[in-house]
Amino acid sequence: MPKVMKKSRQVILVTGGEGNLGSQISFGQKLGKDKLDVLDPKSISQAFDYYKPSVLIHCAVLIDMGICESYPERAFELNVIGTFNVAKACREKGVKMVYISSCSVFKGDKSTPYSESDTPEPISVHGQTKRIGEIITSTLNPNSLIVRTGWLFGNRHTSKGFVNYCIKRLKSHQDIEAGEDRLGSPTYIRDFVEEVKKLIDEDASGIFHVVNTGCISYFELAQNIKRMKSFSAEVRPVKVVLVQGNKVKRGKMEALTSDKITLRPWQEALEEYIKTL
Ligand SMILES: NC(=O)c1ccc[n+]([C@@H]2O[C@H](COP(=O)([O-])OP(=O)(O)OC[C@H]3O[C@@H](n4cnc5c(N)ncnc54)[C@H](OP(=O)(O)O)[C@@H]3O)[C@@H](O)[C@H]2O)c1
Repeated sequence: MPKVMKKSRQVILVTGGEGNLGSQISFGQKLGKDKLDVLDPKSISQAFDYYKPSVLIHCAVLIDMGICESYPERAFELNVIGTFNVAKACREKGVKMVYISSCSVFKGDKSTPYSESDTPEPISVHGQTKRIGEIITSTLNPNSLIVRTGWLFGNRHTSKGFVNYCIKRLKSHQDIEAGEDRLGSPTYIRDFVEEVKKLIDEDASGIFHVVNTGCISYFELAQNIKRMKSFSAEVRPVKVVLVQGNKVKRGKMEALTSDKITLRPWQEALEEYIKTL
């Protein structure tokens, strides 16, 4: 059946609107925590009364996996209670909720990328909070859209993310050690945002994996950046999964694939981002 595009003008709010992803969303009202604090139900209801949104994209998060592991109370507060507050407000006001989720909801012991039909089994505190956020979102708002992604790159206004880290180090002639034993799907924020907008316009609901196509290690990703920019510093492979003292529980496989949509290969997207620098 052809997908029906919604004609009416949507008013879209974005939580965490000053973050790595939120700040790059090219549409809607992007609100930082000073304008919409997800831990303060009054702040959420004031923003809803003022903007009267029809859609809310929830990007506010505690994302640092090390901090989540060391301070689980902070991770559960922001990622679970914050998501509950947002989901409850969306339910009460009939606002469509779009929850941005993560590859960290999976255990990471599979040999191939995870699809929407795989069962989540998070092992890190971060992954647990994101999975609970998914359950809260879909239970309170059955028409919600849950979009999982991972290894985002493409915000040149921040130093966050592995791609920006590699570029900064290699550019200043510093060698890099990068994990060869963890695999992911590097995903260009621009492609991700475009796809999320399409899904919103189609009023899609349920779980979608939105990543650029491919599955590579941090080492291969760093090597590709070095090659694309002709940097001379060295990229060396290391093992990251079983490093002693590494307190963040992360599996080997963080790559996603989708049974529903296909984005272009990560190499093409990375080339395009690198040309913008
Ligand atoms: N980056 C990735 O590779 C990646 C991968 C998979 C999924 N995701 C998902 O993408 C979404 C956005 O992540 P991101 O990379 O943009 O993270 P980010 O850069 O850390 O952005 C999160 C934003 O949330 C804000 N925030 C903190 N506490 C808040 C509160 N109480 N109320 C409202 N906002 C608050 C933060 O502000 P402060 O900085 O001032 O605290 C920050 O601007 C998340 O749902 C994340 O799980 C990202």
